[in-house]
Order: sequence, then C-alpha cells, then structure tokens
Amino acid sequence: MTADPFNTTQPLIAASILSARFEKLGAEIDEVLSGGCDFLHLDVMDGHFVPNISFGPAVTAATRRSTKAFLDVHLMISEPVRYAPAFVKAGADAMTFHVEVTDDVAKTAREMRAAGCRHVGITLNPATAVERVFPALEFVDHVLVMSVVPGFSGQKFMAEALPKSEIIKKRLRANQRLEIDGGINPETIPSARDAGVDWFVVASAIFDHPDRVKAISELRDQLSR
Ligand code: DX5
Ligand code: ZN
Repeated sequence: MTADPFNTTQPLIAASILSARFEKLGAEIDEVLSGGCDFLHLDVMDGHFVPNISFGPAVTAATRRSTKAFLDVHLMISEPVRYAPAFVKAGADAMTFHVEVTDDVAKTAREMRAAGCRHVGITLNPATAVERVFPALEFVDHVLVMSVVPGFSGQKFMAEALPKSEIIKKRLRANQRLEIDGGINPETIPSARDAGVDWFVVASAIFDHPDRVKAISELRDQLSR
C-alpha cells in the first residue's frame, strides 16, 4: 500500500473494487491491499452518464472505515460538482470527473477543488478528442485516460488510449500523474507503461483471478521488466 500516491513517481497499481465481491467488501479490500496493490479506485456510476449503476457515498464511506488506503474516486456521473461534497465527507482522497459532462472543463476543475476535493482529476472517454482536457490541465492533479467505454469492468483494452496517453504525458508537470483505466492486465500493462502511464487501474484482472496476490505480482513483474 502506498500512503500517498502523489509522493512517488514509481508506477502504481490501483485495485478497482467494481469487480470485488460486495458481500465481503472489507475482506476483499484487505486482501488486495495486503497483496500488493497501492491504492483503491472506486467507480461511481449514476445510470445516466453511463448505462450502469454502481454505488455512491455510502459505500465510499464504508470503504474509508475499512482502510486508511488512498481512495481514488472515479465519478462516472452527470453532475460531479453537485455530489463532490458528499464524497469528500465520505473520505475520498481524489475525485475524477469526465470532460463529457461539462462545456467548461477548467471551470469544473476549479469548482471540484472549491467543493473540497484534495486531489482533482479529469478523464475522457475513448471517443473524446484528447484536446478536450487541455484547458483543465493547469487546474488538475491527475489525468485519467479511459481505455474502455466506461460502465463495466471486464472489457477489452482499446489501444487508441496509448497515443492519447503519450500526448497528455508530455503536457503534465512533474507533480501531476497519468492514470489509465480499463482492460489492464499483464498483457496490456507494458504498452501503457511505455506510453508514460503512472497509475494502472485494474478490476477484473485482479478480482476475477483465482489467486489475487499472484495476479498483482504478475502485473508488477511486467512493470519492472
Ligand atoms: C470502467 C471502470 C473501470 C473498471 C475497470 O467503467 O471505470 O475502473 O472497473 O475494469 P477492468 O480492469 O476489468 O477493465
Ligand atoms: Zn474507473
């Protein structure tokens, strides 16, 4: 576990609890954090911005109570600013909003910060032009490149995310981080690393693996090659 993922430039693995067994979430979290994941990624879906509903502030707060790990909340919701305070209260350390929900990405980034988000991230769907994030770059701490169409775990990695990652990475300051989300597994993680990604979000390749600890070490082995 890495206490604050902004304090290192090493590649980090974030376990997305979307693929955890929710009936035993606390034990699932303990297993992946003691098994080598650096922090947790929480996929919040509103059934409006994406065609799925996951969980909200209550599960985020429950996660907060079960671990001190850094909580990276990915808001796949149409109104991130409206709900940001609830997630701050629930214990989120970072919150990422989608460019597709706003006409003014810089303004939304500043509003997220004003709502109390300690770390603000911005993300874009595979079909969205990379230039859309540029106006917000000076106001965010991290950029998340989606390598699947958001809504579900277990989808195939979309390689179009790689050139996008390279373009964004060149524009980031030393204290900003680049994150990728969707279809990351031992086969795809090396290409993302080569594109400059710092943080790798993984759901199914960890939680659907019969041996989670082995799954995490296989990912890490690929990163240290
Ligand atoms: C997709 C979510 C991802 C998802 C990743 O909508 O944002 O975080 O959980 O799942 P995998 O790793 O299975 O592609
Ligand atoms: Zn996500």
